[in-house]
Amino acid sequence: MVSVVFNQKGGVGKSTISTNLAACCANLGFKTLLVDLDSQGNSTHYAGIDITENTLTVADMFRQVVGFFRTPNKPIEFVQASPFENLFVLPASSELSELERELESRYKMFKLRETLKTLRPSFDYIFIDTPPNFNFYSKAALIAADNYIVPFDCDAFSAQAITRLLDNIAELKADHNPALSFLGVAINQFNSQAKLPESLVKELENEGLEVIRPFINATVKVKESHSKRVPLPFYLPNHKVTKQFHGLFETLYGTNENNGE
Ligand SMILES: Nc1ncnc2c1ncn2[C@@H]1O[C@H](COP(=O)(O)OP(=O)(O)OP(=O)(O)O)[C@@H](O)[C@H]1O
Ligand SMILES: [Mg+2]
Repeated sequence: MVSVVFNQKGGVGKSTISTNLAACCANLGFKTLLVDLDSQGNSTHYAGIDITENTLTVADMFRQVVGFFRTPNKPIEFVQASPFENLFVLPASSELSELERELESRYKMFKLRETLKTLRPSFDYIFIDTPPNFNFYSKAALIAADNYIVPFDCDAFSAQAITRLLDNIAELKADHNPALSFLGVAINQFNSQAKLPESLVKELENEGLEVIRPFINATVKVKESHSKRVPLPFYLPNHKVTKQFHGLFETLYGTNENNGE
């Protein structure tokens, strides 16, 4: 199964949620691939992957698509093993930004779907982290995926932006990926002591949007795990926020079934 985590707003928790969902999944024993399509490379870094001159990245994979890459490689050769058992990464690099215009002008938006098709049999779950833009890469991800999750950071401006975001995705779905399904809004940085997050969540539900439970609390432990480059299930297996991520994974996918293809 391929899930994409997307919100065009920056800093809402896309990389935190995609990396930790992938880590929960790997921790449960599923062979998991995290695809990083953001040139910032935050989830690549968070998942413990060091990019050296010789590391094959998702940018090299796209370069191969347009014929710029030196030797032909199979998609699996771009996948890097992380330091964590069962967790594999198709890492990002800053070269993604330079490549974007070239890929777009050559209509290569469907190539990721083709590539992931060949990778699907090797993994139980695939998670895609996206950039904070409705750009070539996030569109390619939404075209390649089975479903998508929208992180929400309990901010009044992002509540207003969600409807527009879902309209954009609905148009892409209708044109290019009719089977794409919406798993729901993942609530991040939730503070149960404050009134605003509670009322914003109610607002989303009143609009008929699926809100996924449990919510992810705001805690410094998330930032700590980022700086240690160890996702929460491996860093603090028993912490409340880790349990919230496991709960989120369970709500989304269940744990008894292998959803692999
Ligand atoms: N639940 C949380 N508690 C505390 N801090 C958090 C939480 N979730 C995310 N953060 C912090 O907020 C910042 C943004 O998170 P993250 O990088 O996951 O967002 P993003 O949507 O991927 O951002 P971008 O749009 O830049 O890719 C990071 O510094 C992260 O450590
Ligand atoms: Mg990010």
